[in-house]
Amino acid sequence: MEKKTLLDLKRKLNVNHRQKGSVTYAEQISFVLMGLQQIEKYQRNNSTGVFPTLKEVKIICQEQYEIFDIILSEEEYKLIVSDLYAIDLFSDTLYENIYEIFVDHAYKQKCGQFFTPDKVIKMVTDMVIEGNENIIMDTACGSGAFLIEAGKKVCNLQKTKLIGIEKDMVLANLTNKRIKKLYGETHYVICEDTLKIDQISFEPDIILANPPYGINIDGEPSEKVFIKKNIEMLKNEGVMAIIIPDGILGNDGNSELRKWILTQCRILAIIDLPKETFMPYTNIKTSIMIVKKGSFEKEYDIFMAISENCGHDARGNTVPGCDFEDIVTSYKKWIIKK
Ligand SMILES: C[S@@+](CC[C@H](N)C(=O)[O-])C[C@H]1O[C@@H](n2cnc3c(N)ncnc32)[C@H](O)[C@@H]1O
Repeated sequence: MEKKTLLDLKRKLNVNHRQKGSVTYAEQISFVLMGLQQIEKYQRNNSTGVFPTLKEVKIICQEQYEIFDIILSEEEYKLIVSDLYAIDLFSDTLYENIYEIFVDHAYKQKCGQFFTPDKVIKMVTDMVIEGNENIIMDTACGSGAFLIEAGKKVCNLQKTKLIGIEKDMVLANLTNKRIKKLYGETHYVICEDTLKIDQISFEPDIILANPPYGINIDGEPSEKVFIKKNIEMLKNEGVMAIIIPDGILGNDGNSELRKWILTQCRILAIIDLPKETFMPYTNIKTSIMIVKKGSFEKEYDIFMAISENCGHDARGNTVPGCDFEDIVTSYKKWIIKK
């Protein structure tokens, strides 16, 4: 229902261009809805049917989010509020749906903004979260799926902090709100470019990430820069689980990076993922790499697995027989013996 209403709204607003001023259409609409959410006098079943004016919403957006660029017209705002009866402003899925519907596919691909499949999120967190960590961080957190799943596995949410970093302002805002709502105010997402952060005041025990791939950052592919940055940020003895394109593990051009990783970390596991894993969004072939930072013996065992079934086909249709749980079970047995 929510998606259908938003699709209708998009059609009515005639959104065939993404940008409007310096703030994207998705941002405009998200912030207007967030502004409405903040205004206490607005009530879902408001019998008078009176909504805050666009001017009031703009003031809230400035005060709460430092957004000064809401340039939707009165007519466009009227279209939004006229559809509000069919939208639950407090639903958990609202902002993801806005993002999905209003931000165009080409832009998402350019910024590496495809979401990580739930089954991958579950497998990775099952493998690495023990439950007693101090800080669990995702350095390219998108919708926060890794952090949200990690939160379910943590023993004490007062002790463990979940921290996300996300460059995209709308995603960062949405995920920040979502994490706080789910787990409380001590967990948060900051809107920053991870690669430009010089220093952080804490050291994560766990870094989980599915960073953007193949985006050029000062002449280097983003995945390489993210691997280095994550390892630098990680606490000694901390664990990083990262989804990487297979080229990192095999291409000649990445041999220096591989050598560097081996000087910094012990490789715990490599899991080869099926080519369908990120389809239909991208067909890049990927693996999960899990490493532990710090000193280690010269020769050691590495857990290796090849997944043959990720639970969906190339079009995203569910197929039976996902083997991720078997891999988690084997890994846990292996790691206990270590
Ligand atoms: C593949 S998506 C992550 C998906 C995430 N695991 C999820 O399920 O939503 C990569 C994310 O990294 C963000 N990103 C790209 N470059 C970044 C940077 N330099 N610093 C922080 N975040 C970045 C993108 O906006 C995108 O949301």
